[in-house]
Amino acid sequence: MDTTLTLLPGDGIGPEIVQAAVQVLDKVTGLYGHTIRYQEALFGIAAINATGHPLPAETLRACESASAVLMGAVGGPAGSTPPGSPRPEAGLLALRKYFDLFANLRPVKAYPVLAAQAPLRAELLAGVDLLFVRELTGGIYFGPRMEIGESQDEATAYDTMLYTVPEVERIVRVACETALGRKKRVTSVDKANVLASSRLWRATAEDILRGYPDLALEHNLVDSFAMLLMTRPASFDVVVTENMFGDILSDQASVLAGSLGMLPSASLNASRFGVYEPIHGSAPDIAGRGIANPTGTILSAALLLRHSLGWEAEAAAIEHAVEAAIQAGARTADIAAGQPALSTQEFTAAILDHLAGPIQ
Ligand code: NAD
Ligand code: IPM
Ligand code: MN
Repeated sequence: MDTTLTLLPGDGIGPEIVQAAVQVLDKVTGLYGHTIRYQEALFGIAAINATGHPLPAETLRACESASAVLMGAVGGPAGSTPPGSPRPEAGLLALRKYFDLFANLRPVKAYPVLAAQAPLRAELLAGVDLLFVRELTGGIYFGPRMEIGESQDEATAYDTMLYTVPEVERIVRVACETALGRKKRVTSVDKANVLASSRLWRATAEDILRGYPDLALEHNLVDSFAMLLMTRPASFDVVVTENMFGDILSDQASVLAGSLGMLPSASLNASRFGVYEPIHGSAPDIAGRGIANPTGTILSAALLLRHSLGWEAEAAAIEHAVEAAIQAGARTADIAAGQPALSTQEFTAAILDHLAGPIQ
């Protein structure tokens, strides 16, 4: 098959890790007899510098004309954009909103071979395999707000966490449908003891779950869930939560996988169009040094093949290659626990070595 992907490498380590993922995509498509064409577009700081906007109209058109989008990251240290320009992160939020990418899937697996050096005891990590289903186009990220300077009262700014029943219904349904093909457990995380939007969330989750008698539903308050994620991570299957809680909890959960650099994500809309990106940021502290861990981006490319193209065997081949390379001892600095580490390029080469085609 022939298809076109749009690449949005973005800022910081973005170009380094997207380049690694493209190498993996090229090899897997070669092995399975497909062709992928790539079109690259400006996003983030480079886009601001070229056009004044982090998400130029031309970039949106490039995304629209592709079967899916593979992204690196956006953002940089203070002073990396001209004074008064919009934030690069605003471009990412606009991209998610434009395509109505309300369902953000963030799978978290603990690799047994990395568990020995993890901050958590290895026995706590055994069997960790959970999936965050993060609501991505609502909540406090998109509610009414006021910046300092916008009111008479210079001492006030606010953001509003707002949810409607249909917004919660559709994300909980995604969680339920996914849970049916997994361990059939749904954990809904909220702050219903304090927030009105969370009480709506909880009541709506219960309504939707009534239509799924085979699924077990557990509610957790976000504060105690943050603790449980560290004390009994293997007990969770599908975790559905609102936008900001999901942002915070998924970075926390990356500790279970060994590093923030390990986790992929898929952001999907109702017609399964998707933007695929690692959960981490542009890592300005290590950008340009060739040492970033490309795993989150490579696994995001696998999610792209699975969810946007329906290429399950090819996606699984990438996931197996990543696991096999790590199993064989390949480590970038963030997962090397002080031992000698591979560069991004060397680590990617190790994954390419383990990538196998279909059995003839
Ligand atoms: P970050 O995720 O960029 O980095 C946090 C820490 O993790 C850093 O020490 C970094 O070196 C390390 N790290 C992250 N990814 C890594 C990788 N692949 N390999 C090795 N180490 C890795 O978070 P931050 O420093 O808080 O944010 C930096 C910028 O990124 C900010 O502008 C932020 O807004 C932006 N950001 C963008 C996205 C995105 O584009 N999706 C996500 C999160 C943060
Ligand atoms: C993420 C990031 C983004 C978010 C930022 C950069 C807007 O942290 O994708 O996790 O908060 O959603
Ligand atoms: Mn985040």
